[in-house]
Formats: sequence, structure tokens, C-alpha cells
Amino acid sequence: MRAIVVRRFGGPEVLETVEVPVPRPGPGQVRIRVAAATVNPVDLATRAGILTEAGVIPPREVLGLGWDVAGVVEAGSGFRVGDAVIGLRDRIATPLGAYAEQIVLDSSAVALAPAGFSPVEAATLPLNALTAAQALDLVDTDGTVLVTGAAGAVGGYAVALAHARKLRVVAVAAEADETLVRGFGADEFLPRGPALGDRVRALVPGGVDAALDTALLGLDALDAVRGGGEFVAFAAGAAPIPLRGIRVQNVWIRADGARLAELARVLPARVAGVLPLAEAATAHERLAAGGLRGRLVLTP
Ligand SMILES: NC(=O)c1ccc[n+]([C@@H]2O[C@H](COP(=O)([O-])OP(=O)(O)OC[C@H]3O[C@@H](n4cnc5c(N)ncnc54)[C@H](OP(=O)(O)O)[C@@H]3O)[C@@H](O)[C@H]2O)c1
Repeated sequence: MRAIVVRRFGGPEVLETVEVPVPRPGPGQVRIRVAAATVNPVDLATRAGILTEAGVIPPREVLGLGWDVAGVVEAGSGFRVGDAVIGLRDRIATPLGAYAEQIVLDSSAVALAPAGFSPVEAATLPLNALTAAQALDLVDTDGTVLVTGAAGAVGGYAVALAHARKLRVVAVAAEADETLVRGFGADEFLPRGPALGDRVRALVPGGVDAALDTALLGLDALDAVRGGGEFVAFAAGAAPIPLRGIRVQNVWIRADGARLAELARVLPARVAGVLPLAEAATAHERLAAGGLRGRLVLTP
């Protein structure tokens, strides 16, 4: 079967299409015929070698790419052959990812595909829905939460889930995205830009109880949090120092099929575009250029 892998780090041109043996599911695993896989920022950081440099990925000769998958079960346990499913690869250093015609995942990382979603739509859910939910789990407040990057894939879901938890949500995104993020459930909107702490405090005296910093603003977002509040960072090296007694944590995604099934019932799919798997390099260029709303989806 065909897969796209990385054997040397660099720009989109280092993505290589290779023929590899069809992977075999072990105990507690399923093999999925991939109908759709998405392109996430983590794929770009893996390809460029940023995660290896940061010590997040150990040195490997071959790295697979792609975390989100939608497809059909071909073999294994926990699901029936022919089931339409979605799933998440959460092991960062494997030689095969979801940019492939077939993938083997632990059954516990897989959920039945949500009804009414095409595979392309369903593939946009796993990584970003679970990340937003697991980030919110880290926060212990029933007050006000700031979400930076609120128009992004993680940020949009974070706004929606915080709104569903009845938190007051202050969303930060580009001015043009105000209608979009208010539609996700933001109570307050601030256009991205300087002096974020001051602008948030003008809306929420003393600062927000918690910040989910999906735009990786670091200290600028921390400045908007009240003393003794909470801050969640989303990338290696993105956690600011815990000034003013603020509890700073990092969210690190973990696959969870049962939770994914719940999230898929309440969150919308977000498709920015669809490309054939062979055009993964173009998809990487488009994601790197910024401004996408939703995920680019690759179809083998
Ligand atoms: N730790 C984990 O487990 C985990 C899991 C998933 C994702 N992540 C990380 O979470 C981050 C967000 O991922 P994503 O998939 O949501 O990315 P995304 O879809 O590209 O969204 C990021 C959003 O942030 C916006 N943004 C950039 N700079 C900003 C600024 N200064 N102020 C306000 N908004 C700004 C972007 O706008 P433009 O597009 O207009 O630039 C975009 O809307 C990435 O770094 C990703 O690697 C971490």
C-alpha cells in the first residue's frame, strides 16, 4: 500500500510516497482502510524536524505523518469489518501515520463515525476535538475563560465546549472571524493585536479565570489571567513562566475513542478543502501560509 513518510527533515518537498507492506493489527487493534486524513500543524512540525529538535520525537529513520483518520474497518477486534469509523493516532514517532491507504490503530483510539458526516467531514474531528476537550478538563473554573486562536481548529472547538459548560468565553481571533467565533459560542470577542492583557481586563476586571492559549501567545495571554488563575499551553516550549501564582499546564493529546464518540455528537466538522493524498505537499504549503478555517483533508 502507499503511504507518505519523512526520511529527512525540511520543507514540503521532503514528503515521500513509499510502498510499504499492509500493516497487520495486533491484539486489541483494528486496521482501517483510510478514506480521509487531515493535515494538522503537528505534521508540519514533524516534517520540518522541529519536534525532533525539541526532544518531543526521538531520532527515527522514518516518520509517518497524519493523526486523524476516517475510514472503514478491514480487520481486527473491537469493531465489525465494514464499520465506518474515525480514530486518532497519538503515537508521535511511528513509521506509518494516517497519510496512508491503510492504518492500524488501537481499538480504544477509534469510534464509530458520527451519523450524517461524510468521511471527509468526520476526519476533521478527532485530534482537535479531543485536544480542546482535554485542555478544558485541565481547567477548574465556572467563571470566565479566554480562548486565543479562536477561529482555529482547536480554538473553535474550545470555544464551543467552554460555552456548553456555561463558562463566559472571551475569544481572540482576526477581526474578520468575529461572526464565526461568536457562532461557536463566544460571549465576548477581541480582535488579535497588541496589549491583549489590557483589553481583556477592560472587559473582565482583574482578568479571566483561565486561558486556553491555542495561538501560542504565551506571556501576552498570561497577562490577561487573574492572579492565581489557570493557563493551558498547547505546544512544546509554549508554556510561559507561572507569574502571579497562575497554574500553567500543557495539554498533551491522548487518544480516547469513547470520548471522541461523545464529542462527535456535539461538535461540527470543519473542512477547509480536500486534496488527493499525493498532493500532501501542497496541503502543507497551504496550512503553513495561514488563514485556513478548518482542516485540509487528504483522500487516498
Ligand atoms: N498539545 C497538543 O496536544 C496539541 C494538539 C493539537 C494541536 N496543538 C497545537 O495547538 C495549536 C493550534 O492548533 P490548530 O490546529 O488549532 O491550528 P490552526 O487551525 O492553524 O489555528 C491556529 C489559529 O490561531 C490563529 N492565530 C495565530 N496567531 C494569532 C494571534 N497572534 N492572535 C490570535 N490568533 C492567532 C490563526 O490565525 P491565522 O490562520 O489567520 O494565522 C489560527 O486561526 C498548534 O500549535 C498545534 O500544534 C497541540
